[in-house]
Amino acid sequence: MTEQTMSPARPSAPAGTGLPRHAVSLASWRRGDYERVWERAEWMLGSSTETLARTAPGTLLGVLFYQNSTRTRLSFEVAARRIGGSSVGFSDATTTRAGDFYRESLEDTVRVVGSYTDVLALRHTDDDAAERAAAVSPVPVISAGTGDREHPTQAMLDLWVLRSKLGNLTGVTVGYVGDPACRYARSLVHGLAAFNAAGIVFLSPDGAKVPGDVQRTLARAGMTRRTAGSATELLRGVDAVTIIPFELSDFHESAVRSHSRSARLDERFVFDGALLSRTGTGVPVVHTGPRGPELPPETDDVPNVHYFEGVTKGVYLRAALLAELLAEHRRR
Ligand code: CP
Repeated sequence: MTEQTMSPARPSAPAGTGLPRHAVSLASWRRGDYERVWERAEWMLGSSTETLARTAPGTLLGVLFYQNSTRTRLSFEVAARRIGGSSVGFSDATTTRAGDFYRESLEDTVRVVGSYTDVLALRHTDDDAAERAAAVSPVPVISAGTGDREHPTQAMLDLWVLRSKLGNLTGVTVGYVGDPACRYARSLVHGLAAFNAAGIVFLSPDGAKVPGDVQRTLARAGMTRRTAGSATELLRGVDAVTIIPFELSDFHESAVRSHSRSARLDERFVFDGALLSRTGTGVPVVHTGPRGPELPPETDDVPNVHYFEGVTKGVYLRAALLAELLAEHRRR
């Protein structure tokens, strides 16, 4: 038998542990919920294309993207196809009634597309868009990044990759590189809290602050919070590093604006090949993408940098999440 035709035993959902109906905020996700999705994702990674296609044949994913994306939208669409389904939707709301004269509401758009499909993935400029969608949707809603609020699937993905490198997330200290006020930070901190991580060390743009709600999540979980002044200092004090683009766009803007990015990033914030080989050996590094000068392409060959591994695994994480939410939806 070849690798292509062999598949590991399919994981079954633990009895009595229902996933939340929607994946809009990781505040309500427990350790067992992540483990259930990750177990399915691991199984999918080891399964043949044919086996994977029998996971949820005929499933229709509705893709409502009011904001640009490369990785999240395409990996969701590929995931739907990999598990035997397909996707419909839009990546430019100006082609729909939501973006023209009619200004059709988010709620009505969700009800319309939700009546055609089995599950929805929503990216939106408004902080509360996913919660509003979930309140009216006939099918499960997954936030694919909404305003500054949350980006649950990116956090699930990065935590899965980091756990596979570290063996365990309990008791670890994670370095977070980028603005702590962004949507990914909120989801990540909820995930770290669910696993009883020890703490987080922020390396942030000058002037950036840790928002009050993130501070409260950390305090409730008994996690420590520190700051580092440079990439070198950060690498010396953490077990793993997660990086977002150091220069962020405005998540409340739907279109690409004609703004100029900084010509050069301060070297304090650059994780280059020399630094990672000298100081960060053994500390796994993930990046949400799109990567910028904070993690230059020369690091692609550094063994503990897992940027493109995360990109690849994003399909399996999202395929597993789709499968588990659909299974949960059918059970209810
Ligand atoms: N990580 C992430 O959200 O990337 P995209 O904006 O390309 O989806």
